[in-house]
Amino acid sequence: MKTIVEARNVQKTYGARGNLFTALQRIDLTVAEGEFVGIMGPSGSGKSTLLNLLSTIDRPTAGEIEVDGVSILNMDEARMSAFRRDRLGFIFQDFNLLDTLTVRENIVLPLALARANIKELECRAIEIAERFGIRDILDKYPYQISGGQKQRTAASRAIVAKPSLVLADEPTGALDSKSATDLLECLQELNLRERATILMVTHDPFAASYCSRVLFIKDGSVFTEIGRGETARSLFFKKNHGRAVGPQQRRAGRRMIRRPIAERRGSP
Ligand SMILES: Nc1ncnc2c1ncn2[C@@H]1O[C@H](COP(=O)(O)OP(=O)(O)OP(=O)(O)O)[C@@H](O)[C@H]1O
Ligand SMILES: [Mg+2]
Repeated sequence: MKTIVEARNVQKTYGARGNLFTALQRIDLTVAEGEFVGIMGPSGSGKSTLLNLLSTIDRPTAGEIEVDGVSILNMDEARMSAFRRDRLGFIFQDFNLLDTLTVRENIVLPLALARANIKELECRAIEIAERFGIRDILDKYPYQISGGQKQRTAASRAIVAKPSLVLADEPTGALDSKSATDLLECLQELNLRERATILMVTHDPFAASYCSRVLFIKDGSVFTEIGRGETARSLFFKKNHGRAVGPQQRRAGRRMIRRPIAERRGSP
């Protein structure tokens, strides 16, 4: 199976000499095409740092990162922005929509930047808006729509150019439970139908229950991971809801697969 993310020995240190802070230490991560991977862990554990490194927003202090077979660390700024535009999709907690553009214009922005033709832009916007249930608000501005609709607009924008990898940092963090469920179901459908590869940081066990695999980060290292295996999503959620999903809750999900990290290395 094709590998979409390959990170080896990735470290990130902030600050200058005498005042160094290691946010990530020796992270190894492999994500195969079509996986929906969750990243959980306490506040400050390094989740956003990891996502920012994989998404080329920030650079690691050491280590190697390949996304879709391309080493992303030695690119100049021009290649980097083309790479981001063509292969990555982002969904942030606070939506990051442009207020002066309509929903339709926000969605097609990445295609417009890639200079797709107008007809293609229009078709793709409608196709995606339909899938995300926002077709009737395409001509509204962000201030005229709800938080859930904003987030589905942001998610539509993230996938409009069919990226190799969708990166989401707490995409449901600002949503009520109905809007969060709608968004997660859209992401899940995208993952299953289009085999989109998704990496999602979340604090929410319910959101994590949509993932096929969840990594737990603590103090800058991946300390365990669980896979949903054959467990139905609702069962997985029931078993983990309300608890910090992790090795501390040994009873959770007898049918969940939990394998030591070392054992998983090299096996997507
Ligand atoms: N630009 C920076 N300069 C210095 N330290 C930073 C910087 N960015 C993050 N950190 C530190 O690195 C650590 C990891 O931060 P990060 O944002 O990755 O945490 P997180 O797991 O995403 O937390 P949260 O769940 O609260 O979003 C934190 O201790 C944070 O204070
Ligand atoms: Mg964060």
